[in-house]
Amino acid sequence: MVEIRKLKDNDKPQVRTLELFCIREYLEGSLQKNWDDLPPDLMEQLGASTKDSFDFYREGGMSYVALEKGQIVAFLFSQIIRHVNNIEKVLWVENMGVHPDHRRKGVGLKLLRRAASDAKKKGAKAVQSVVMPDAKDAVMLHKKVGFFMDGRKFAFLDLENFK
Ligand SMILES: CC(C)(COP(=O)(O)OP(=O)(O)OC[C@H]1O[C@@H](n2cnc3c(N)ncnc32)[C@H](O)[C@@H]1OP(=O)(O)O)[C@@H](O)C(=O)NCCC(=O)NCCS
Repeated sequence: MVEIRKLKDNDKPQVRTLELFCIREYLEGSLQKNWDDLPPDLMEQLGASTKDSFDFYREGGMSYVALEKGQIVAFLFSQIIRHVNNIEKVLWVENMGVHPDHRRKGVGLKLLRRAASDAKKKGAKAVQSVVMPDAKDAVMLHKKVGFFMDGRKFAFLDLENFK
């Protein structure tokens, strides 16, 4: 039986390990990159479970873990943002992942539906989720929940050296 609960401070090490595992799987599987070639400082910055990001998401109260027999088997990081695409209050799903031994058992579906349901109770009008188009499992999960996917992409600009 899977239990879904909000993220807690002492989940950090387990969630960090699981998120890095999922990122590694994507980099090696879809992008064919060698994990061991990544600079360690870049590795430290990957994902939503980095030190500062984890605390931010935990404090926001919209991030979750799934547990089976007391062990964390999945995570979801999300936050409510004020105004996007003319919609007031949108749940932004930053990342989620399920341990490979626990996939295709409905855990991802349960997590995403719980986040959406809690967001709705807080007045959110929509959910936006970061999905890599080549991640078939994630695309299929979002379709099953009812997400509309039109292939839109978001562009990113690093402002550190921007003048
Ligand atoms: C994507 C992911 C979170 C799905 O979690 P999950 O717990 O395995 O998903 P569920 O068992 O709840 O699946 C729900 C539905 O999604 C679809 N789905 C999930 N995985 C699928 C797959 N590999 N192939 C086809 N459909 C899939 C199916 O419709 C499934 O329903 P069904 O089993 O009744 O057919 C998981 O595969 C994962 O962690 N992947 C790696 C990390 C990742 O891609 N994260 C997503 C970032 S947005």
